Amino acid sequence: MRTDTGQIVHLADYRPTDFVLERVDLTFELDPKNTKVEARLIFHRREGAERQAPLVLDGDELTLSSLLLDQVELPAGQYEATPESLTIRDLPAEAPFEICVTNYINPQVNTQLMGLYRTNGVYCTQCEAEGFRRITYFPDRPDVLAPYTVTIIAAKEGNPLLLSNGNFLGGGNYDEGRHFAAWFDPHPKPSYLFALVAGDLGVVEDSFTTMSGRDVALKIYVEHGKEPRAAYAMDALKRSMTWDEERFGREYDLDIFMIVAVSDFNMGAMENKGLNVFNDKFVLADPETASDADYANIERIIAHEYFHNWTGNRITCRDWFQLCLKEGLTVYRDQEFSADMRSRPVKRIADVRHLKSEQFPEDSGPLAHPPRPDTYREINNFYTTTVYEKGAEVTRMIATILGAEDFKKGMDLYFERHDGEAATVEDFVKSFADASGRDLSQFSLWYTEAGTPLVSVSSAYDAGKATFSLTLEQTVAPTPGQPVKQPRHIPLSLALILDNGQIAEPQAVEGGEYRDGVLHLTERNQTFSFSGISSRPVLSINRSFSAPINLDFEQNADDLVQIARHETDMFARFQALTDLALPALIAATKAVQNGEEIQTDAALSTTLIEIIGDDTLEPAFRAQALALPSETDIARELGGNTDPDAIHKARNTTIKAIATTGLETLRRLADSAANAEAYSPDADSAGRRSLRNGALSFLAFAEGTPERAAKAYADATNMTDLAHALSVLTQRFPDSAETKEALAAFETRFADNALVLDKWFSLQAAIPGDGALDRIKTLMKSKHFIATNPNRVRSLVGTLAFSNPTGFHRADGAAYRFLAEQIIAIDKRNPQLAARILTSMRSWRSLEASRAEHAKAALSTIAEAKGLSTDVSDIVGRILK
Ligand code: PHE
Ligand code: ZN
Repeated sequence: MRTDTGQIVHLADYRPTDFVLERVDLTFELDPKNTKVEARLIFHRREGAERQAPLVLDGDELTLSSLLLDQVELPAGQYEATPESLTIRDLPAEAPFEICVTNYINPQVNTQLMGLYRTNGVYCTQCEAEGFRRITYFPDRPDVLAPYTVTIIAAKEGNPLLLSNGNFLGGGNYDEGRHFAAWFDPHPKPSYLFALVAGDLGVVEDSFTTMSGRDVALKIYVEHGKEPRAAYAMDALKRSMTWDEERFGREYDLDIFMIVAVSDFNMGAMENKGLNVFNDKFVLADPETASDADYANIERIIAHEYFHNWTGNRITCRDWFQLCLKEGLTVYRDQEFSADMRSRPVKRIADVRHLKSEQFPEDSGPLAHPPRPDTYREINNFYTTTVYEKGAEVTRMIATILGAEDFKKGMDLYFERHDGEAATVEDFVKSFADASGRDLSQFSLWYTEAGTPLVSVSSAYDAGKATFSLTLEQTVAPTPGQPVKQPRHIPLSLALILDNGQIAEPQAVEGGEYRDGVLHLTERNQTFSFSGISSRPVLSINRSFSAPINLDFEQNADDLVQIARHETDMFARFQALTDLALPALIAATKAVQNGEEIQTDAALSTTLIEIIGDDTLEPAFRAQALALPSETDIARELGGNTDPDAIHKARNTTIKAIATTGLETLRRLADSAANAEAYSPDADSAGRRSLRNGALSFLAFAEGTPERAAKAYADATNMTDLAHALSVLTQRFPDSAETKEALAAFETRFADNALVLDKWFSLQAAIPGDGALDRIKTLMKSKHFIATNPNRVRSLVGTLAFSNPTGFHRADGAAYRFLAEQIIAIDKRNPQLAARILTSMRSWRSLEASRAEHAKAALSTIAEAKGLSTDVSDIVGRILK
């Protein structure tokens, strides 16, 4: 494990390597405990590099076994090897030379799941960001690209499959019960995209003919017996391939595309060239074991990794500061794909909810960083929602500012200019500036400055002059290391809605740029005036969430109700409902804190019930409307002094009141005949289920008994309905006999399905209240708990920390102390997993005083622990700072 050295990497220090890597030839002799790795690397000195400069290769926990230069053993004086680096001096000035490094590694003890490791008897690699250096000494940085030849030798027994990147060259018998396979990847790639998989797995096969008529073999490898559960992933893959051709003109470029599903994986999935490795949770699905959300995630992540083939692999990152170049862009692409496959407005609503609940808190807390940071201590800690989701928003804003046509030209220019290169965010932005002729220099602040802009809105209507004037002011609060912020270029989609429900077409707009319904806010303060507006309009601003900002806009309830009922932009309708609900939920929270009775807002109840009962609207949209802002959303809106118990009580009481008002509508929805449908994972069917299940949740509040949920549990014919019914039982009636019975039945029925057991664990870990901690401690002793499996750890410890506000923020601080113990223990095995779960503590300063005190003490315990990884030490240091 890399323990903290306190070393900081700076973007400003970037310089190219002194040596150019021409070719890589790797030979693996696989053994669970003692794998031999031989790396032949051909280099030449870069033109202009110093003649004396040594070659420095990265390592991590490595021991050098032998070192040859042009096939001759190097004298001890010419190199220096440590576990972290290999330095070689006196290398040829101009001529290419070959370095041959041999070393041995132990996959069996690799619990970090970085480099080469074992999972359920399968050899598997994970190299992003800096895992390749745990396999062999190498210039392990993304701007070193080369074609790879890989030979894998392993015992035939247990390893019929020997896979690596690129196209299959050939294979055959080796010696003593071993066989070999060789692969060649002609596309120059950085080491983080290397992959090797060996073992005994089942396969699902298909094929795809690309737009230029090339046949590509498609293979998805899963554990034996699970093949039928890979059918949906295969379908999603083929749809992704077609979509990328049609929408972005991007064709696949090898003879074969492989996906391997493994059960121990730190992240969602990895886009290794031609050989994606997936957390099996994002591959395996069937109606009995996967929910609609699982299907949607599989579709999205299969697409995401596939799309990386162009945005990430063909064009990669010059350095890790540019991570959002591939991630932000690829998330944008997968979001667009899902929007085309499903309902565009519902997808937008879900994405924005996610952004606000995850990225906004990150951006306003101690871990805030720009999408393109300029320093880091541990790159693993920058796989954040800011780099991914905000990165996608920034890409989307470029599309909004340029318009579809110029955006496409810019993308094409980017692909044309940088194919085969390691590029920067500047290169990306320049492609759009050059293609469109538009100055994007101010816009680039979105990449380099952290923080969510706050835009204050005020307006006035002058009936005499038929003019509407809109004054906007933008501010960004200071973030770590960035005390002063510049005004940004903020594209705000807006509509002025007239009395008759029509959208006004202004005669002229003064005060700044306004084009195609988009206002360009570029100054700190700016007043726009719209002329030819015949009556006082209702302002709908930031439609479709055109910019990732907060609005400070006291819009009156009548206007919000009008937007909620009549806007043509469905996102705006959803937002208006949220804007009605949040003040009500906040007032309710304050009432709880002051010991007063909660008054529920009639406008909110009526509008909400009207919308969810409106059969002309998409069910999935109505389900989103019904899912009120979460407890975390309310805490964020309160902006500090958070009391999770008060929020919980206030929200539940509000829901109960709404449910009581809407009883009839809710019963109609809950009783609708969707159960009779045969299960299909498509978006429309999923939308109908989500509305029905949303109604079921609300009814549990109004009716106050577990009967309906217990019946739903008994009647469920698919995992979506089954898990939802169980969540209503566990959340609302945790101690009822019905709940205990359902939990036991669920455990027995799915005892040998790890992914479903994860649901069983997380449903219980999410039960609110002080009892959560003891429940989780007991569950950790269950025979099903596996401390080395990241999904399982996340389902228990992660659920408590991220998804159980009242359980985690127990007033006595016991859950914080528990988390600290867990982080320290997990860190010893798997630093990345520990660091990720620890980010759940990032908002501790906004807790009310006594909880904050407990949180700080627990964090200090972590900070003081001995032998922390760089990952955990970096996060705890920033959180406490
Ligand atoms: N690059 C992967 C993705 O976004 C995520 C990942 C990062 C996976 C680091 C593993 C390790 O698709
Ligand atoms: Zn990605």
